[in-house]
Amino acid sequence: MSNGREQWGTRLGFILAASGSAVGIGNIWKYPHMAGQNGGAAFTLVYLICIALVGLPIIVGEFVLGRKTQLSPVGAYDQIAPGSFWKWVGFLGVASAFVILSFYGVVGGWILKYTFASITGGFEALVDDPEGAGTMFNGIITSTWEPIFWQVIFMAFCIWVIVNGVKGGIEKWSRIMMPLIIVILVVLAIRGLTLPNGKEGLVFLFKPRFADLSASAIVLALGHAFFTLSLGMGTMITYGSYLDKKQSLIGSAIWVILLDTAIAILAGIAIFTTVFAMGADPAEGPGLIFVVLPTVFPQLAGGTIWASLFFILLFMAALTSAISILEVVTAYFIDQKGWDRGRATIIFGSVITVVGVFCSLSLGGGINLSAFLNMTFFDFMDYLSSKYMLPIGGMFMAIFILYRWGLPEFLIELETGMDGYKVNHWVVRILLSISAAVVGFIILNEIVDKIIGRSISDILFSASG
Ligand code: PHE
Repeated sequence: MSNGREQWGTRLGFILAASGSAVGIGNIWKYPHMAGQNGGAAFTLVYLICIALVGLPIIVGEFVLGRKTQLSPVGAYDQIAPGSFWKWVGFLGVASAFVILSFYGVVGGWILKYTFASITGGFEALVDDPEGAGTMFNGIITSTWEPIFWQVIFMAFCIWVIVNGVKGGIEKWSRIMMPLIIVILVVLAIRGLTLPNGKEGLVFLFKPRFADLSASAIVLALGHAFFTLSLGMGTMITYGSYLDKKQSLIGSAIWVILLDTAIAILAGIAIFTTVFAMGADPAEGPGLIFVVLPTVFPQLAGGTIWASLFFILLFMAALTSAISILEVVTAYFIDQKGWDRGRATIIFGSVITVVGVFCSLSLGGGINLSAFLNMTFFDFMDYLSSKYMLPIGGMFMAIFILYRWGLPEFLIELETGMDGYKVNHWVVRILLSISAAVVGFIILNEIVDKIIGRSISDILFSASG
């Protein structure tokens, strides 16, 4: 069956690799500031509903498609619907990988720079100086060569892991890094909770403020559910394609979701308890990690250690996600073009790095390819992927399973490895339909907003309120 295809060594290895993909900048950077700005627990509640209702069916769908075909996205769609246009959904996934990894690699570079800065005590001078921290961050990201230097190093790590293959690269490093991420985060969360006033951070994060929860925040939570679980571009199809038939895919999917969610919430606790204890601004938004934390850590006893641990954790989380994005591209060239792993990874990892250089240069280095859109190329790549490419990919996959592949075949593969347990086909049908409909709505909402300047959800929300 496996035609010599590489396979995961163990079930735990697979779960750690898949959750390594899911746990990334999305959990530790995006989620805490989104929750902080959009109603705390009210946002978290909507986000959890989205994860359960849309995230679970789509992640299971991707695992099933991958394991059934033992192929990465393009080949997977083409094997089940030969010669049809469905393989373009696979190509969309490969294209998304180029788009996401280009800017993700740039952020990975910033994280490396901050890791280095924290280890060498570079934050000491920023105590109580948010302005200084802001200037430092802006100075770094808008300069020409420095961010590119760090981005290239980050991408080199990424290429190196992928060249080493599924078991010897992805699985090996996920097994090392995921437990470390969890341990460091728990330590940081406990450290935050035991600080005077730290618990106020919990109130901020967990007390529902429904008044702050706008309609667009609901759409935001839905989009984030996709991004944080790495869905819609075939990452989980590709990871699923290295599985044998022995495990329950629903069980593994639940593990991945639980780990991803727990880590996002732990990150929120670690960050907000510390921010409150030190009296910094919790609603700082995207700058929270790069601007607020560097001024907060040096105020703690052993600040350099805490700061270094935090940025090392963030680096590992970013790396285990970035490799999963590169693997989609590499697997395409291996499966469909017969290339060898090393060549595919090095060539396309480099191409993506070059695209990323243009993302970085758009922030101040003087070259902005999307200037005509009134946004930086960096923001454009982020926007294009999380608002359109991932949701569209996920929606088409749900439609594919329901109407092209067909539920009976899907269920046979799903139930393989479940020790005779039968899944109710109505539950699957309803969940996949809800996912496709909800995602279709988000995309439409976004398009309407772009065209008329107001989203459907805003119109409905203000009409009823
Ligand atoms: N899930 C990753 C994060 O939260 C990002 C990602 C998106 C990874 C899509 C793979 C595919 O940071």
